[in-house]
Amino acid sequence: MTSVDWDLLVAEAVRMTTLAYAEYSHYPVGVAGLTDDGRIVSGCNVENASYGVTLCAECGMVSHLIATGGGRLVAVACVDGNGEALMPCGRCRQLLWEHGGPDCLLRTPLGVQPLREVLPQAFGPDHLEAYRSRD
Ligand code: THU
Repeated sequence: MTSVDWDLLVAEAVRMTTLAYAEYSHYPVGVAGLTDDGRIVSGCNVENASYGVTLCAECGMVSHLIATGGGRLVAVACVDGNGEALMPCGRCRQLLWEHGGPDCLLRTPLGVQPLREVLPQAFGPDHLEAYRSRD
C-alpha cells in the first residue's frame, strides 16, 4: 500500500450520501474505505421507524467489506449530506477499530488521523486473546 487517494474515497462517500435512507433525521451519511488489497468499500445510513434500530453508514461499509472478501481497512472517509468530513460516532469508531486497527487512517474534521488517536485505549480483539491465554 503506497498512498491513499483521498479524493476518490471522498467522492465515493459523497455518492453514498445520495443513496442514504434518512427518512427521520434527514441527515444523510456516506462512508468509503480503502482495503489493504486495494478495494473500495462503502455504505450509507439506513434509518428505521423504530429509531434505535437505525444502521449507521459505517455498519453498511463493514458489511460490504466482509461480504466482498474481508481484509483490513487502511483508510476511511465519512461525510455528511453537505460533503463535509464527519467524525464517526463512538460505536462506529469501535467498528472501524475491529476491521482497521490502530494504524487505519481516518479523514476527520481536524485532518487525517490514525484510529489510535481517535479511539485511545481502545478495547479490541487483543484483550480477548490476552484473557484467553492467561495461565
Ligand atoms: N450516523 C451515521 O451514519 N454514522 C455516524 O457515525 C454518526 C451518525 C447517522 C445515523 C443517523 O441515521 C443519522 O446519522 C443521524 O444521527
